[in-house]
Amino acid sequence: METGSESFHTSSAIFHTSSADETREFGRALGALLGPGSLVAFVGELGSGKTVAIQGVSAGLGYEGYVSSPSFVIVNEYEGAGAPIYHVDLYRVSAADALHEIGYREIFFGDGVALVEWADRASELLPPERLEIRIAIEGRNGRELAVTALGEDMTSLLERLAALWKERDPHARPHD
Ligand SMILES: Nc1ncnc2c1ncn2[C@@H]1O[C@H](COP(=O)(O)OP(=O)(O)OP(=O)(O)O)[C@@H](O)[C@H]1O
Ligand SMILES: [Mg+2]
Repeated sequence: METGSESFHTSSAIFHTSSADETREFGRALGALLGPGSLVAFVGELGSGKTVAIQGVSAGLGYEGYVSSPSFVIVNEYEGAGAPIYHVDLYRVSAADALHEIGYREIFFGDGVALVEWADRASELLPPERLEIRIAIEGRNGRELAVTALGEDMTSLLERLAALWKERDPHARPHD
């Protein structure tokens, strides 16, 4: 865990999973910690596991229904226990036009929880306080999840997530 010293808090941690289920479990742990008005930006190549992670996050937020990539509609809305969940996929989004059409301000800055695939395609529209998860493929079933917390709330959330994950499996220790 690395913590920045500037006044805008940032920190980062790296996690590893060795199956889709483990990534879902990681997402579930994260989802249980997310409050209303938060945004998680997912970045990673096709098939890296963004949707799989979001399945877990949605479950952790209290939504037990099916979660699939909303590629053709840009955004799916699920009912979380405490707030609506907006599952956004920007893979096919060209420029900011489509985002303005769907009213991205309500989605990115409202009281719901926004989970955004291909978030790097609209980085300039994202709220400054957010969690970023970069997923890299490590072999067939291995994934590295590099998580960066932007802002004070997300920094403390990431600390709690890292502690939980470490406790759950002492061998899967997040490191810098
Ligand atoms: N450790 C792992 N974590 C997540 N997914 C894994 C892992 N190992 C294998 N997989 C497989 O990788 C695939 C990930 O697919 P997923 O749809 O989540 O990717 P994605 O990043 O959302 O892709 P896209 O950009 O097309 O939306 C699934 O088939 C999943 O079973
Ligand atoms: Mg996907």
